[in-house]
Amino acid sequence: MYLDCAVFENYRNIEHFPFSFDKGINILYGKNAQGKTNVIEGIYLFGSGKSFRHAREKDLIKADKNHAQVSIAYVDSVRENKMTYRMFRDLSKETFKNGIKIGRMSSFIGNFKAVLFCPEHLSIVKDEPAQRRTFLDSAISQINRSYLSALMEHKKLIEQRNALLKGYEKQKDSFAVTMEILSEKLAQDAAYITEVRAKYLTKLFSLVNGYLSEMTEGHEKAEFCYLSHIAGNETEELFDREENLKRYRRIFSKDIQKEIIIGSSIGGAHRDDFEIKLNGMNAKIFASQGQQRSIALAMKLAEGEISREESGEYPVFLLDDVLSELDRDRKHYVLSELHDRQVIITTCDENDFSGINNALKIYVENGNYEYR
Ligand SMILES: Nc1ncnc2c1ncn2[C@@H]1O[C@H](COP(=O)(O)OP(=O)(O)OP(=O)(O)O)[C@@H](O)[C@H]1O
Ligand SMILES: [Mg+2]
Repeated sequence: MYLDCAVFENYRNIEHFPFSFDKGINILYGKNAQGKTNVIEGIYLFGSGKSFRHAREKDLIKADKNHAQVSIAYVDSVRENKMTYRMFRDLSKETFKNGIKIGRMSSFIGNFKAVLFCPEHLSIVKDEPAQRRTFLDSAISQINRSYLSALMEHKKLIEQRNALLKGYEKQKDSFAVTMEILSEKLAQDAAYITEVRAKYLTKLFSLVNGYLSEMTEGHEKAEFCYLSHIAGNETEELFDREENLKRYRRIFSKDIQKEIIIGSSIGGAHRDDFEIKLNGMNAKIFASQGQQRSIALAMKLAEGEISREESGEYPVFLLDDVLSELDRDRKHYVLSELHDRQVIITTCDENDFSGINNALKIYVENGNYEYR
């Protein structure tokens, strides 16, 4: 898959610009705060259905305008497609594919496939569980619609179950019946979500190790450990959905009194996490900045590889400020690994790419873009 062009209108600091991209490496370069990440963010709207910087729709609209829009044309194995993402000040948005309005985000996500790397993704290695879940959920959702639907339903059910727990005093009569129905649906979704995540991580880390090993001449090896209320000693145990279901049923029934007191669900797939180990030690605590960045990057390369295995073609790689903090050997490895894929990459330091021929270079200054 490759991105042919993208037209930005009133998006962040970009008033209007029609980009056309090469099938290979595209470099956006310029000083800080000029509008490089804005382009990556605008394109990735089509990958995840929202801003990866957690901005609300109205923050994406150019300061003095009422609405903004980004339109893209991309080519997949079948045809060229056009998609549009339009946002308004009242936080609403409209999305289209080939002229037809798409109402549900679950139908919007998964059309244009992209892998994003941004500096914030170091948090996958070093921060809270939510960052790792977001990574997993957005990677898997792009290639698996049933997962995305289960995830959305699970989120809704947890909200409903928590509301029921909080409102126990007012609904004592119907509490038990409603709780049983909600908990059973939740257990079904959670059993499936945990199974898919465990299988995905297992595949991901076998690829991550290949990349890390090549990047570091065999010095670094990463592993993960799945952390969940239903996890045993081996990740493979989570591949069995029926077993997961039994365990989740137990979890949703055993602590109800405690849950009523705290007014929230103790267990569920929304609390899953995984620990990353580098050479046997917790990477969050022991890995250096460069090592953490290398793991996050290897995870992104692996995400792209799995996406290609599932859909038959590489996604578009959007790499925001990816090379800083990497030494020369690691930089060289990353660029050589990406040579046969479409990459849109940002940098403040043009020299990072001095060895690369045939790249399309776009100079960025104050929301204006110049092909050089
Ligand atoms: N809604 C908006 N309206 C107008 N300008 C905006 C809006 N949102 C952000 N900006 C501007 O966009 C610029 C930041 O753009 P961006 O994040 O793309 O910078 P960058 O080139 O990636 O910089 P860095 O190298 O520091 O990462 C800032 O000047 C900011 O004021
Ligand atoms: Mg930036």
